[in-house]
Amino acid sequence: MAKTPHGTFSEKLRVPEALTFDDVLLKPMESRVEPDEASTETRVSTNVTLQVPVLSAAMDTVTESGLAIAMARNGGLGVLHRNMTVEETAEEVERVKRADELIIRDVVTASPDQTVRDVDSMMERRGVSGAPVVADDGTVLGIISGTDIRPYLEVGDRDEVREAMTDEVITASEDVTARDALELMYEHKIERVPVVDDDGKLVGLVTMQGILQRREYDQAARDDEGRLRVGVAVGPFETDRATAADEAGADVVFIDCAHAHNRNVVDSARDIKSQVDADVVVGNIGTREAAEALVDFADGLKVGIGPGSICTTRVVSGAGMPQITAVSSVADVAVEHDVPVIADGGIRYSGDAIKAIAAGADAVMLGSYFAGTDEAPGRVITMNGKKYKQYRGMGSVGAMRSGGGDRYLKDEPEDEEYVPEGVEAATPYKGSLASELHQLVGGMQSGMGYVGAESIPAFKERSEFVRVSSAGQQESHAHDVVITDEAPNYSPGE
Ligand code: XMP
Repeated sequence: MAKTPHGTFSEKLRVPEALTFDDVLLKPMESRVEPDEASTETRVSTNVTLQVPVLSAAMDTVTESGLAIAMARNGGLGVLHRNMTVEETAEEVERVKRADELIIRDVVTASPDQTVRDVDSMMERRGVSGAPVVADDGTVLGIISGTDIRPYLEVGDRDEVREAMTDEVITASEDVTARDALELMYEHKIERVPVVDDDGKLVGLVTMQGILQRREYDQAARDDEGRLRVGVAVGPFETDRATAADEAGADVVFIDCAHAHNRNVVDSARDIKSQVDADVVVGNIGTREAAEALVDFADGLKVGIGPGSICTTRVVSGAGMPQITAVSSVADVAVEHDVPVIADGGIRYSGDAIKAIAAGADAVMLGSYFAGTDEAPGRVITMNGKKYKQYRGMGSVGAMRSGGGDRYLKDEPEDEEYVPEGVEAATPYKGSLASELHQLVGGMQSGMGYVGAESIPAFKERSEFVRVSSAGQQESHAHDVVITDEAPNYSPGE
């Protein structure tokens, strides 16, 4: 009888079982751990530790600098999507890096002979609301802010900056503390203090907004210089985007590919790793064999072949791996090499997120969960009296048409030639990222409490699964009642 490498064709049907979130539950265990005392600190890549084990997906309806800043301030990590030019990627990274530092080093400056109009558009482009005015040799001459500019925009937008700027500048030296800067700001009723060297040359800037924000976010993900951390997605062959992101200060570069167990992708990812200082996480994968191909050089492995809410990869291609099995298969290999694992996609509830960790992940990545927040790109739309935001797969026709789909494509096709692996959709509007993340992490800590684990590593080791029947699954959801008030962390049939 003719044989395939795996036996006869009928033997091929003796298939292993693969499980996903709804197939399992965590077994409750004896515990002394109060949920709010459980530490969610985790490592997301070789050199990056987070207080909150959560990442936002690299999708053009989810993570741009706005959401990445909010994620990092609240302890997680935003991964910028790559449906933009390489220059825009670098600018987006800089926006996140600039958001919270005490002394901003890479200061956006104006020159005295620029027009007011010019400076206004520069400030908008660079995401700042004021800029020191410096001479060619770096000496600080003045400072210009949105408030100075506004009247000029109405009547004299071609006037030079030297006319609109405030020229009595209060400066500080490099050893300035947050307290000193606040006192200067209080005394002189100002919101920005340029930091200068002994010759009066600009070396940085301290802003009121920066000081207040740093104080507010005690769990924030920060680099060694106190700047917010940020991840950046790059195509598997986009060395230019990877090096630009790295130079702009990205902490983690994510090789963003629908099927990273591809020899060309593996080789290119290895090459990118050799060219950047940032950690390099590679994905997506879903099997032990893929993990083995990457684990010797990757700083992290990202898992998910088709579990995402907007993904149609499994039905379009017939390939995929249910997520709990995918995560555990990869984690078996990764743990031997001390490489962190990120479970990406398919997480609808906090319970799914903590199940992914029990299956061996160190952190989770979510798209739809965050797409409805204020900080995600796009505006709120109203349909049948309910509020939504747009959410689309990066392999959907819309995303591919606007340049983001090479994760799922090789060449630029004509419109009708697209073979999408994702859909365009809407997701309920959810309000602020901080409150969504609070619900997610609170639910995960609750899971840790049921298992009696005070840390993520302890939880990974101690937790056990039980298999759930479809009757058990039904029992898990609210049933036999009519829900009268929406809970902040649950809606049926999501
Ligand atoms: P969730 O379930 O959190 O999933 O919305 C987000 C993840 O889905 C992946 N992704 C896609 N997968 N086709 C796919 O098969 C797509 O068009 C697509 N877009 C995003 C991605 O891994 C993301 O983090």
